[in-house]
Amino acid sequence: MRRLMQYLVVLTAVAIVACYVASAASALPSIPAEAFQAETTCTCHGPQQDEWRESMHAKALSDPVYNVKKAEADAATGGKLGLFCDTCHTPIGTMSGQTKTGELSPQSLEGVTCDFCHQIVGTTKLPPGDASQELLPDGTKRAQLRDAVSPAHANAFSGFHMTAEFCGACHNLVHPTTGVTLDDTYSQWRAGPYAAEGIVCQDCHMTNGPGERPTTGRAGAMGPIRDNIYLMTFSGANVALGQPERALRMLHSAATVTLEAPEVLASGDEATVTVVVANAKAGHAIPAGVSEVREMWLEVNAIQPDGTRRLLGIRRFGTVFRDAQGRYPVQMWDAVAIQSDDRIPPRGSAEVACPLQMDSETSLTVEASLNYRSFPEDLASKAGVQNPVTIMASEKSVVYASKSQLRRASRTAERGERRSVQSATIAVVAGGALLAALLLGTGVYFLMRRRRLHLRK
Ligand code: HEC
Ligand code: HEC
Ligand code: HEC
Ligand code: HEC
Repeated sequence: MRRLMQYLVVLTAVAIVACYVASAASALPSIPAEAFQAETTCTCHGPQQDEWRESMHAKALSDPVYNVKKAEADAATGGKLGLFCDTCHTPIGTMSGQTKTGELSPQSLEGVTCDFCHQIVGTTKLPPGDASQELLPDGTKRAQLRDAVSPAHANAFSGFHMTAEFCGACHNLVHPTTGVTLDDTYSQWRAGPYAAEGIVCQDCHMTNGPGERPTTGRAGAMGPIRDNIYLMTFSGANVALGQPERALRMLHSAATVTLEAPEVLASGDEATVTVVVANAKAGHAIPAGVSEVREMWLEVNAIQPDGTRRLLGIRRFGTVFRDAQGRYPVQMWDAVAIQSDDRIPPRGSAEVACPLQMDSETSLTVEASLNYRSFPEDLASKAGVQNPVTIMASEKSVVYASKSQLRRASRTAERGERRSVQSATIAVVAGGALLAALLLGTGVYFLMRRRRLHLRK
């Protein structure tokens, strides 16, 4: 009986692996790598090339964190699952069959590269996902421009490149056998307010950030200057491996934190501090993407005047997967269900309440900060990558132990303000006087010089 059970478990595992591989093979058509141009052979799109090289798309296959996870996926499935993973991390390597032989040409090594995206014509299913791209590998480069002319290749207008479905073909992923949603960035966007307003992924990820317009520039070296140029930056939240300044700007724009604490709380008393975390500008839930890997958490601290910190509360946001035995958290390949999902939907918010015990005789500062890092510490150290914590948003509020202390503090603040207004006035007057003296001095000097010249003549 036990032997039979073991046999069945092995058989199921083999079937699951077989399905994975079958679905990986069927998601994309089979096309040789030579049908795509390598980025390194492209000489006309300097700015776009610089932008892309720093993006996670260029690093999708070389990414050390991806490679650690892929190795774990392979180890769990006898070396079969990695091929499935590569579907989106090197679509050209997958379509050409090179990921099976292990001999990757430059096009495949470039991950999500220019010419893969620019020979896409549509999606084979709606909603898109699981690498549902439809391709026409005829060498024609397709994008949003209607009048592009190039000496090096044919061009064609593609309205599809201006849609979120274009991105959704990779940014939506369902477990091929258990049907669990592993990444639903596209579906989150589709169900949210931005889709209704016609704001697509490109508007936030291919410009200088949410709310920004396309920039001015040239599409190609010899082309005219246009005002509808998109950036090949695809910046998200990866400060360590992506373009750090852009990623920081994205993270800082994504969320707001508001804090409500009592102004006065007598020593020994207890009250509630309420914090609201809002998804202000992300087009999808935060954290987004592979949200079981990402770490986003709110921390509320009470800080004593001497700097001592006391944790009042912590709340983590993200998704947690459960396996067939009911264990969690588990890796995405073992997921049969979502155990919990407390991401914050687009323009949605989450309220967190923490008890505050007043343990100061004078005052303390309550600070709420929303933190983000791309990876759990152990994953980052296995991959040998830095894993900085970014404060996405934070707010502080001072709590006094009595009304008189509050009054005293506001009087001091007022006086400070008056004093700073006074010193600002003094600075302006002094600066003015100095400038006048300088002008006068220069005037007198030149007058004297002229007179001297005059005299010499
Ligand atoms: C992930 C897919 C993707 C990758 C990778 C990519 N592009 Fe694009 N590209 C697009 C999309 C989508 C647009 C159109 C954006 C829009 O109109 O909303 C575009 C627009 C363009 C344009 C038109 C002018 C402009 O900038 O708006 C050029 C030229 C271009 N890309 C070149 C490149 C080059 C060169 C690379 C590689 C160095 C590259 N792209 C990589 C998706 C991609
Ligand atoms: C061929 C599949 C594919 C397509 C098409 C695609 N992506 Fe990606 N994208 C990826 C992969 C894979 C990664 C993760 C790479 C990594 O981190 O190793 C990624 C990462 C990202 C990130 C995260 C970067 C960061 O710094 O955290 C953003 C943002 C992004 N893509 C936006 C887009 C947008 C916008 C489009 C459509 C114009 C698009 N992608 C189309 C596969 C794709
Ligand atoms: C209204 C602006 C906006 C739109 C629209 C938008 N995003 Fe984002 N996206 C953001 C911001 C801001 C962040 C950074 C905060 C975060 O990580 O969630 C982000 C983060 C990401 C990340 C990185 C997540 C992580 O933690 O690694 C990916 C991937 C991504 N977006 C893909 C997409 C895709 C695909 C679409 C379209 C289906 C899209 N975004 C639409 C603003 C937007
Ligand atoms: C349907 C396309 C698709 C498939 C298949 C896929 N991924 Fe990804 N992967 C993505 C996209 C898109 C992102 C970017 C999401 C984000 O930034 O959070 C990503 C991001 C990642 C990241 C984060 C990397 C980083 O540096 O931030 C890891 C790790 C990863 N994938 C591992 C895997 C593994 C392991 C598999 C196979 C079990 C796999 N992926 C299969 C599309 C895919």
